[in-house]
Amino acid sequence: MIVGFWIAATGLALVLFLTIHLGGVGMALVNPTGFERYATSLHQQAWLPWLEVALLAAGLGHPLLSLHRARANRQARGPAAGPLRSRRQGPSETLAALAAQLTPWSGSLLLLFLALHLAQLRWQRPADGAELAGVLAVLQAPWWLALYAVAGAAAGLHLLHGAESAVRRLGWLEPANAAVLRLVGRGLALLLGAGFALLPFALVLRSAGPLLAGG
Ligand code: HEM
Repeated sequence: MIVGFWIAATGLALVLFLTIHLGGVGMALVNPTGFERYATSLHQQAWLPWLEVALLAAGLGHPLLSLHRARANRQARGPAAGPLRSRRQGPSETLAALAAQLTPWSGSLLLLFLALHLAQLRWQRPADGAELAGVLAVLQAPWWLALYAVAGAAAGLHLLHGAESAVRRLGWLEPANAAVLRLVGRGLALLLGAGFALLPFALVLRSAGPLLAGG
């Protein structure tokens, strides 16, 4: 019970981070100067290291607790038991069921992506004013571009199942509000998944814009 609570709480904290992160990196597309100012000012904040420690705890705690719960569930249900299936019908339910089955895979891919992503853009931080150049240097390589897009899609898929699972686990999902909460969760999954999957391409195309126009 307490494990389920912490899986849900750390998951929702990570969703909050991802929403802010998409807003921050999305600024690089519409307002590059504002993006550089935002990145520089973020790194001058005394609270940033504390926030990063909390983020690290959530980022490591979430998969470790999930792994622990999956093992405990398997032992309790036995090897013959199959995955739980929803009785609701429709294309979005089929996608949600697929997302639920793929949760361990999408989560593992996100962990692998995060190790590479942090090594590229956080542990070796570009100089102030060169944040966008650092991002573009990474995204110029087709393999990295593809990995960023796949990781974005994996985040959306992971959330498609995770958002509903978290509110259910926290006891917030009730017959009266289930449809609204489900819609909000799926909308957020779509927004973050599509946003992180498409933004890398948009950034590369935008940086190539002057070249394509011959400027
Ligand atoms: C379009 C795709 C993305 C871009 C362009 C991007 C860009 C960046 C940049 C520039 C940083 C360094 C920030 C700084 O030092 O101030 C960063 C940090 C980070 N990114 Fe991303 N990111 C993307 C997608 C993702 C995704 C999908 C995740 C999670 C699955 C993620 C998780 C993180 C984390 C945890 C940090 C460290 C935050 C911190 O320590 O302050 N990013 N990202």
